[in-house]
Amino acid sequence: MTKIEVKKIIKAVNASDGAGVKLKRSIGTPEADYIDPFLMLDEFGSENKEDYIAGFPPHPHRGIETVTYMLNGEFEHEDSTGAKGVMTSGDVQWMKTGRGIIHSEMPAMKEGKLLGFQLWINMPAKFKKNKPEYLYLKGNELGFHKDEDKSVKVIAGKFGEVEGPEKNHNVEPIYFHIILKEGKKFVYNVPPTHNSFIYLLKGELKIGDKNHGKTSNSHLILLERGNKLELQANKQTEFLFIAGKPIGEPIARGGPFVMNTKAEILEAIQDYNNGKFAKY
Ligand code: FE2
Repeated sequence: MTKIEVKKIIKAVNASDGAGVKLKRSIGTPEADYIDPFLMLDEFGSENKEDYIAGFPPHPHRGIETVTYMLNGEFEHEDSTGAKGVMTSGDVQWMKTGRGIIHSEMPAMKEGKLLGFQLWINMPAKFKKNKPEYLYLKGNELGFHKDEDKSVKVIAGKFGEVEGPEKNHNVEPIYFHIILKEGKKFVYNVPPTHNSFIYLLKGELKIGDKNHGKTSNSHLILLERGNKLELQANKQTEFLFIAGKPIGEPIARGGPFVMNTKAEILEAIQDYNNGKFAKY
């Protein structure tokens, strides 16, 4: 058993996307460009409606999966596959864009607190031209474990006997939302093939055996490869634990398109401009 230690503590940077939604980006930044298979992680959270009310009007994607987890608030999704739905607190939408999708994500709330996450997972070359797929997971369809020390919401992967709804996925993703009480431990066996990280929402953690920088007020904690994750909460701590098997292919980014080569990015732009995406 190799204990998992901290590799790097990354502070999220302020960014803006869509029609001016303010967010904190931790993956997809100069400090953490790509944590294979994860291309981007955004936290959108604000009590001020001006920060989110403009939403994300229609825009295209190709070659990636986007996983949106709403902790607080309501957003309406609509896309070119005909899928439409309102996400409320606790819900997840898992969109496999494949060869192309056009979607919009607009606030279905006029005021109040918004808190959510969007994670981009890369798709291997062999899946990038698949038919787009949209999965809508209500909060009560997610796995849930609770004991005296902690609660674990399972969006993907397996915690004990509790399994998340997204199964047989090529990167074998693990996506947990955990609340760990003060002084309590969280121990989990991670596949040694996986890259993993913690996204800290509130609190402070001691990770592994070695000394590491202060984890409070930081956001993304990138972890070393290993198979035994051992955490202790210095105070009550809320965090996401996310892991996945690397794809190991070259990537070319072009905004909402992520392919393997620059030529494929140009092809995506051309296909979108020629109206092909709307027909997939
Ligand atoms: Fe999008």
